[in-house]
Amino acid sequence: MAKPLYTSAEPQRAMTQNGSKIVHAFGALADLGAEVANRSNFQDTIRTSLHLLLGSLGIMRGGVARYSRFEGELSLAAVRGLGDEFPLAFALTREDERAFLQCGTAALEVLDARDLTLLSLNGWILEAKDIELIVPLVVHDELLGMLFIGEKASGDRYSPHDKDIICAMGRHIGVAISQRNLLTELERKADETLKLYDEMRATYSDTVKAFAAAIDSKDKYTEGHSTRVGKYTEIIARELGWVEDEIEGASVAGYLHDVGKLTVERKIINAPYKIDAKESKELNRHPSVGYEILMPIHHPYADVPLAAKYHHERLDGRGYPDGLYDREIPYIAKIVNLADSFDAMTTDRPYKRRRPAHEVVEDLQKNSGLQFAPEITSALLRGILRETTGELKDKRFRRLLGREYMEAENLTPMLRHALDNIGSTQSITLSV
Ligand SMILES: [Fe+2]
Ligand SMILES: [Fe+2]
Repeated sequence: MAKPLYTSAEPQRAMTQNGSKIVHAFGALADLGAEVANRSNFQDTIRTSLHLLLGSLGIMRGGVARYSRFEGELSLAAVRGLGDEFPLAFALTREDERAFLQCGTAALEVLDARDLTLLSLNGWILEAKDIELIVPLVVHDELLGMLFIGEKASGDRYSPHDKDIICAMGRHIGVAISQRNLLTELERKADETLKLYDEMRATYSDTVKAFAAAIDSKDKYTEGHSTRVGKYTEIIARELGWVEDEIEGASVAGYLHDVGKLTVERKIINAPYKIDAKESKELNRHPSVGYEILMPIHHPYADVPLAAKYHHERLDGRGYPDGLYDREIPYIAKIVNLADSFDAMTTDRPYKRRRPAHEVVEDLQKNSGLQFAPEITSALLRGILRETTGELKDKRFRRLLGREYMEAENLTPMLRHALDNIGSTQSITLSV
């Protein structure tokens, strides 16, 4: 009678050993899944994954390589026990890539894969390091990397069951590499889009400024008017606490508010005398013409045409072109109106010199609630005050108005007084 393969206790022991191996492998796989899901540090993920894989099957050494199709190269991302002399990268031919893709994530015995160029060129170093298996990491028909698996500590050969475990773990590592590649590609595209957006934004901003210069060149007496209004509008919007995009939009509205003047006759704009009713009518068309010019253009900030159309409206309804009252006037137009008037008061005109600082502050205070919206007037005065008190280091008004103007006697107390008074002003619509 043939001797049984096992004594009565042996099958039991073999089954228990196999069971604990499976439990152990599943545990490692679960750990690996958790590690792959944690995307905080890719390098750490790959290193830990390799250690889990080697540890779960008692493997002495191994490595994980990433494949770059562009460079035709497998570069080692993590290694253990391979020594310094193990190459950091292996060239991979397209033929080898195709062969790996055909077999998918399967463990190949190094000894059986000598036909591959990778092995014919590097077989000696793999053998010197006792690499027994290579496992291509294939996800969605794309070769993403390779596992190099050394010998088992027990000296046993790899069983089909061991290979299944290695391949399952290899697929996890492949997914981690795939995720990383996608993320890198996404970041690259996001960077590119951001760069493109910045370039477009800069081009838009330059175009707006060039337009403002073109508008200003028509008026020899108010040189730089549109540019200054753009800057005052920006300052006011900032003082009002607007966010960056809104501030940028407000400044564009300021730069372009007088674009309609491009169609007004030069001699009317440059008249060194007070123009007559007919000429005034012609000049007063510029807000509506500006609106017509700006309306068909797709601005990143929707209110730009409205600022051009209504920047000569007043809260008390005595403005033009439509004689709108306070709440009917778009907010941006109220800001531009103040910036526009402030520039008119603080620069020399053909028929009058610029007004001294104290007169301007008085005028703004007096007209707050009639022509100007109180909170917008306060924002402008607060901006000047923050500069005269030294709270703001950026000398925005000094650059626009000159040092002397900003150092006018008693300007700081005057601004404080005006701000106190305006604080209690109500706009015209609210008081009727
Ligand atoms: Fe205007
Ligand atoms: Fe203007």
